[in-house]
Amino acid sequence: MSRFLRLGVNIDHVATVRNARGGAHPDPVRAARLAIEAGADGITAHLREDRRHIVDRDIERLMAEIDRPLNFEMAATDEMLAIALRHKPHAACLVPEKRTEVTTEGGLDVIGQHDHLVRPVGELSAAGIRVSLFIDPEPAQLDAAKRLGAPVVELHTGAYCDAVEPAEREAELARIVRAAAHAEAIGLECHAGHGLSYDTVGPVAAIQTIVELNIGHFLIGEAIFVGLTNSIARMRKAMDTARAAAASA
Ligand code: PXP
Repeated sequence: MSRFLRLGVNIDHVATVRNARGGAHPDPVRAARLAIEAGADGITAHLREDRRHIVDRDIERLMAEIDRPLNFEMAATDEMLAIALRHKPHAACLVPEKRTEVTTEGGLDVIGQHDHLVRPVGELSAAGIRVSLFIDPEPAQLDAAKRLGAPVVELHTGAYCDAVEPAEREAELARIVRAAAHAEAIGLECHAGHGLSYDTVGPVAAIQTIVELNIGHFLIGEAIFVGLTNSIARMRKAMDTARAAAASA
């Protein structure tokens, strides 16, 4: 049986455009509301240490004004932990964060960072927040996530999406397929995201053990041409079509 595939829309880059001029327009909370109307099951926002896009007030407003789950992406720092524990979003996705990177460039090294991650994973979980770890699709990283007691992993799809040669893309997709099967085998809920577009979403949506995709940059970019409602509705359709086709194959 096919499991439902949720779409989390990441609204960070609405805030990027707003911040380019200061002021309040365009408003990421308005984008979140539209995203929900267009088929998003949840909203994702990354409060970075340097507040380059989403700012603290956006998180406060998202918590108060939207009626779908908020997936709060955060670095495992004391500052972000305190903010998450204050707001208690539905989920917190722990991501690696380097000040100089343009976007989240690789997954968390859960193996190497075990000791550093014990406290945030424990405190977030104790507060009732569903913890997810953003990792590369490597079985050893999944095993380490399981050891930490995180219930969810999000597989980094960036290498698959960035692959230019078909053979390389196939190989990266195969890594995601294997990792998603491993997640199921060891009892972790599996999400995926990063860099997904209309061209790349189908094969990932077809993996039945993945239950959530988080997508941002492409959707906000495409919205410039077709509007946010249309860009999201088309993504939702591409996901659902690929999922249904794979389930009936
Ligand atoms: N998932 C995680 C953990 C991320 O850090 C990001 C980027 O903020 C995304 C998904 C969405 O990636 P993109 O904006 O490339 O769709």
